[in-house]
Order: sequence, then C-alpha cells, then structure tokens
Amino acid sequence: MNRVWVPPSPADARPFAPRAVFEAGLRNHHIANTAYPIAHTLTWAPYRVDAASAAAVAGRAWSGIDDLCLYVHIPFCETRCSFCEYAVVDREGLPAAAGYVDDLLREFDLYREVFGPEPRLLHGFDIGGGTPSVLPADEVARIVEKARSMFRFMPGSDISIETTPKIAAARPDKLAAFRRIGIDRISMGLQVVELDLLKALNRSGNAADCHRRAVENVRAADFRRLNLDLMYGFAGQDLEGWRATLRHAIGLDPEYITLYRMRYKLTRIAHHARHVGLGKVRAMTALACDMLADAGYAATPGKTTYSRIAGDAGTSAYLTRRVVEAMPYLGLGLGAQSFTHTTISYNTGAASKNLAAYRRAIARGSLPLQDLYDLPARQMMGKMCAVSFYFGEIDTGAFASKFGVALAHLFRGEIDFAIGEGLMDYTARTLRLTRAGSRSVNGVIALFYAPSIQQYLLESATDSRTATGDYRPQEMTSAHV
Ligand SMILES: C[S@@+](CC[C@H](N)C(=O)[O-])C[C@H]1O[C@@H](n2cnc3c(N)ncnc32)[C@H](O)[C@@H]1O
Ligand code: SF4
Repeated sequence: MNRVWVPPSPADARPFAPRAVFEAGLRNHHIANTAYPIAHTLTWAPYRVDAASAAAVAGRAWSGIDDLCLYVHIPFCETRCSFCEYAVVDREGLPAAAGYVDDLLREFDLYREVFGPEPRLLHGFDIGGGTPSVLPADEVARIVEKARSMFRFMPGSDISIETTPKIAAARPDKLAAFRRIGIDRISMGLQVVELDLLKALNRSGNAADCHRRAVENVRAADFRRLNLDLMYGFAGQDLEGWRATLRHAIGLDPEYITLYRMRYKLTRIAHHARHVGLGKVRAMTALACDMLADAGYAATPGKTTYSRIAGDAGTSAYLTRRVVEAMPYLGLGLGAQSFTHTTISYNTGAASKNLAAYRRAIARGSLPLQDLYDLPARQMMGKMCAVSFYFGEIDTGAFASKFGVALAHLFRGEIDFAIGEGLMDYTARTLRLTRAGSRSVNGVIALFYAPSIQQYLLESATDSRTATGDYRPQEMTSAHV
C-alpha cells in the first residue's frame, strides 16, 4: 500500500461526541444514509480540484490501480418517475440515445489513454440507469464488446443490467439478446403494487399485471439471477399496502429482493418527506425483514439485498466489491461517479441531467469531469464505511488493508459507544449492526462520517434539510441496491 492522501481541512480534524452524532443521525434520518457525503458542495469544498488540473489529478489517482469495477450509466427512461433520484433524461432525450452510445465508447477510449496499453482487471460490470434496456440490444452489445476489448474480466466477475417490468414484459427478444452477449444478472424495479400509488408516482405502466409476464420472459431468456427492487417510505403508503407488495414480490420467486427506503433529497416529491416519520419506516423495515425471512430470503441485519441462494450475497460483483472492499470503480456516462483510493469524481450532467455539456466534453476529447475531489484519508474512510452499511457491516480486514490502520483503533470511541448501546457487535471478519442497530442505522452510520459531515448533521435541528443540499448522482445501480 503506497497511497498519499491530502491533509484534512480543519473541519475534518475535530472530533465530536459519539452520542450527539448518533442522535443527529437519527434526527436527520431522511439524509443520514449510505449516500455519502450528504452535502459535498459544502463539506468537500476544500478538496475540490480546479477544472484545469482535474484530468492530471485523475490520471495520477488511477495510476497503479490494476483491479477495478466498471459502471456505465444509461440516462434514458420511457417516463420519469416522480420519486427517482438518478440522472435521467426522459422521453424527450430518447432520440439522443444512439449518439449517446457513440459518446460512451469515446469515453472508454479517453480512459484507455489514461490507463495505458496494459489491460486492467475488471471485477464487476454494471450497466445501470435510468433504464439501460430502453436501448436496442445491439447498442448494449457495443458497450459490452468495448468493455471486453479494454479490460480483462476476472473469472467469477459478472455483468448486470437493469430493466423496467414494462420493457421486460414487452421485449423478450431484448432479454434473450442480453443473455446471449453474456449478461448474467438482471434487476427490475417493481417498487410497489398499489395502483393509486403507482399513478401518483408517475409509474402506471409498470403495474402488477405485467410483472408475471416480465418474469416469465426473464426465465425464458435463461437468466438465473433475477433481482426485484421494492420501495417503501412513501407518504401515501401504509403497512397493508407494503405487505401486499412484499407478498406479490415473493410470489414471483426471484433469487434476490432489494429493499429501497425512499430517499427524498432533490426528488420531485422531496416535500413529502416531512410526512414520513422514523416510526413508520421502522415498522415497514421490520415487516419486510420478517416476511422475507419466512419466505427463505436471508440477509444480515441492515442489509438491503435479500437472497434465497445460500452463499450468494445477491448483489452484482460490481456492488459487492464496492461495498466489502471499497474497490475503485470507473463510472462512464452522464453524471456517473468514479472512485479511486484517493479521489471521488462526478461526470458532467449529474446536477443538470443535461446531455449537451457531457457531449461537448467528449467531442473536445476531454474527460467529462464536472467535479473532482482529492480527499483526505478520513473522508475516504467515511465513504467506505457509509457504503458498507448496504450490507449492514464493515469488513475490518478490508478497512485495514485499504488504510493501513485498524478500524477499531481509529473509531475506538464510536465503536465503544455502539457496542455499549447494543447497536453493533464484532464477528470474526466484520463489525456489524445488531438487529437493534439496524433499527437505528441512520444514527449508527453517522458515527463513521468525517467530522465536517457530522457537523452538518449536528447543526441541522430537524429533517428540514431533506429537500435541500446538492445533487446525488448514481450512488448505486440496482444491479446495485
Ligand atoms: C436506477 S433505478 C433502475 C431501475 C429501472 N429503471 C426501474 O425503474 O425499474 C434503480 C432503483 O433505484 C430505486 N430508487 C429510485 N429512486 C429512488 C429514491 N429516490 N430513493 C430510493 N430508491 C430509489 C428504485 O427501486 C429503482 O428500481
Ligand atoms: S425509477 Fe427507473 S424508470 Fe423511473 S425514472 Fe428512475 S430510472 Fe427511470
């Protein structure tokens, strides 16, 4: 390990009392989650690299990284759901889709120049969005071929793609083509079953009537790894509706089910957050946990992806390596996020969701970087720990090998507090949430945030910041959670 991190800003060198941070996380439960950092234009301002130096800093950050994951963002959807937090351009953007793939392939080439001729080892590849399956199958094939030409694929790595039920139900030919080009795993957003709620969320075309056909087509295409996304924490959703959604999803017999608690920040329904309290969210989480366990789906406390396949985490290799090891990942496409050992960057379009600036950068032959942050170790630790909570646990060996210091040493006060309160405990390999800790995950996760971000929560007396703050580009794909 030979990594050089920038020094922390004064705001990142000041510790806060664990109990106060825990309470601030709970108070801000709508934003204290895995989407770290919460307000990067504010808290990461000292680390922002100016545009003139961004390409050189990115080049340095990627040098020596031989093992990585890949994410390609396809920002197109047939309609835009009102709850969606991702970089999506809707129907009006669809005509641009063909040219977009050309741009993506050029972006691959720009990184080939950064990486040099020796192909690096890819541990997982997610094609997410948006809805990548809106693309014609041969366009998806061009992307996969390009990745194969540029990287060596690690044995055991996989390729995962996302679809909506509507497309999966209507286009069995596309699903078969995806499988033929070597895509192993498919993830589909069911979200909820209540018709009135789907309508309110601008997602009527994806109702339960097409789910069975969608799953039949997925199986006929020979996919053996199907994930279904479900969502909860909507203002207009009650426990009975949630129970019906869970029952319906279990009845479709996917290998995996991923639960997404609604994150309101910067969505079109951000103002609904104030109607959703922690009590309601906890009741919904507990119901899901019990029903899924009864149906044979396993997950450790706090983990959001449930799997009925023993020994299979259920997530794509891309996500698993990100969560467990904080493996570097390259994100290509509009608004995509990339992560090295020392930097985090967001591609152009993350905030504006506008294709024009992304396309201009590619046409100029420049990396389409909108924001690049050269971060201190403490911020990279905050990021690694926050993302680890997708699995409800932090891998202590992976942390030590990444940062050269033991988690237990660095977070002694925080871990003592969490264990003392019965919120976390150790296994041989990890520091994990207990069942009680998973009920208070928003408080526990904040214990590991860097001080400047803890301060942001501490100064926020209520949930009022939920609807404000800066953009949150692709954090996970649903091949991702
Ligand atoms: C990028 S979307 C892709 C799935 C596909 N486009 C679909 O809608 O079926 C991945 C998943 O993110 C989840 N999601 C979208 N917006 C969210 C939000 N604001 N908070 C939490 N989860 C969200 C949904 O469950 C969705 O299925
Ligand atoms: S939830 Fe899926 S279909 Fe809806 S806007 Fe987001 S990415 Fe598109």
